[in-house]
Amino acid sequence: MPDRIRPASPGTRPPEAFVLLHHAGTRLHADYATMNRRADGRLARLVRQQPRCGDLGQTTVFYDHDQRCWIILGLGPAGPYDDHALRRAAGHLVRTLDRLALSRVEIVPSTAAMRPFGRHDFGRILGEGLGLGAFDFRDFKSDKNHAARRSVLHVRLPAATLLDGLADGLERAEAANYARRLSATPPNVATPAYIAAEARRLARRSPRLRCTIHRGSALRSLKLVGLENVGRASRNAPCLVELTWNPPRRARKTLVLIGKTITYDTGGLSLKINNTMKGMKYDKCGGMAVLGAMHAVARVQPRCRVVALLPAAENFVADNAYRPDDILRYPNGVSVEVTNTDAEGRLVLADALVYASQRLEPDAIIDLATLTGGIIVALGRFTAGYWCENQTLRRRLESAAEASGERLWRMPLLPEYRELMKSRHADVWNSAPVRDAHPVQGAAFLSYFVDDAIPWAHIDIAGTANFDRDQMPFTAGPTGFGTRLLIELLRTWS
Ligand code: BES
Ligand code: ZN
Ligand code: ZN
Repeated sequence: MPDRIRPASPGTRPPEAFVLLHHAGTRLHADYATMNRRADGRLARLVRQQPRCGDLGQTTVFYDHDQRCWIILGLGPAGPYDDHALRRAAGHLVRTLDRLALSRVEIVPSTAAMRPFGRHDFGRILGEGLGLGAFDFRDFKSDKNHAARRSVLHVRLPAATLLDGLADGLERAEAANYARRLSATPPNVATPAYIAAEARRLARRSPRLRCTIHRGSALRSLKLVGLENVGRASRNAPCLVELTWNPPRRARKTLVLIGKTITYDTGGLSLKINNTMKGMKYDKCGGMAVLGAMHAVARVQPRCRVVALLPAAENFVADNAYRPDDILRYPNGVSVEVTNTDAEGRLVLADALVYASQRLEPDAIIDLATLTGGIIVALGRFTAGYWCENQTLRRRLESAAEASGERLWRMPLLPEYRELMKSRHADVWNSAPVRDAHPVQGAAFLSYFVDDAIPWAHIDIAGTANFDRDQMPFTAGPTGFGTRLLIELLRTWS
């Protein structure tokens, strides 16, 4: 896979291949008439004779008599064609280009392919698909030949607006891929300290970013009881990462982004059994999505202050582990009976929510977490569930979801669900003794730690954070879900 994809303007070295976009069940688009003549009419003939070449993501390659390479990229039928289809097709394309070892191509969009979008958005979505499709996690492969091969793919488009969009999309994909790389990094490497060091490294890239790590005795003095308890049984000590973007002009608004960063979730003493533990390195994906957005923040230049909080811990087993029946007291006065040490995410998120509410004067808080297996049962892999009782924030999130293609579906947060979380021996418990509405229980629990007056949204990304099979433009593994959603949100946040 190419290590980098660069937009190339017209006038640079000629491309090795031209890519045409084609809808299933249609004739070669009239926009390609000149090209078709240059190729002796073979493009139109090919499309006629091979009806499958319009299938979504299908790439049909042919060389004309001058050994010019033509690639017809299928967009699927014109009816359901949308941004998801374009991203998917672009994901397939980048893998074909890699197979053909092409490093300079020109994509020639037809008016039909661009119709549902503006030109800038067409370029952006194409860039996202190409960038996401090129992700390849080889950090732990020993294949030296591959490691030595550094390649750049130059992508030409015929207009400046398209190229601007392409550059934008590629940047967003790069941020998501950064989150994916960290998410895929195994738990014996990606410890809380490793994530903290990574946040510090990010902060060094811009004078407007500031990073503080709360650890050791600071956890006690700040009363971050969730982190202290959940992280206690691991040799990899817990910490709260605080990474702040300060805009050039004094900000009036503050947006807080919280990401669950459990570097490994064994379940603790309520141990995960029957191999359900495998894959729990992805329990840090919420935090990595937030870091991904912070990776892009200096380019996005939001006018508000943005504070990223990553409560990072490893949920482990040892003789000093926290236990079911323990009761914790949070600094907002709420006591929590631990009924299940595997419902650890909400305990560390509660720390971050209280910290944000009491110390950061937030205008809004958004948390992302791989919180419950139940959300996978409810919504599967294509949509994250979210809870938000504030109209304005809801509208902002839904339009960011629409634009980024990272889908959200709203779930209910009724008083009855909050009631479910009341415990006999403490104010609340971290998991009710009934199996009802697990994902909602998580949200209901968290609501006890946010000031009512602060607009807040909780996004459960357990289903969307990683895939177990290829699903273009994603390959099996982490998706970086949330990074592009948050980038879109930051762009539009005034
Ligand atoms: N990290 C898990 C949630 C999860 C499960 C993510 C499967 C991805 C795939 C979380 O900490 C957890 O264990 N949740 C429990 C909650 C229960 C104990 C209330 C769950 O979902 O079963
Ligand atoms: Zn758990
Ligand atoms: Zn977890």
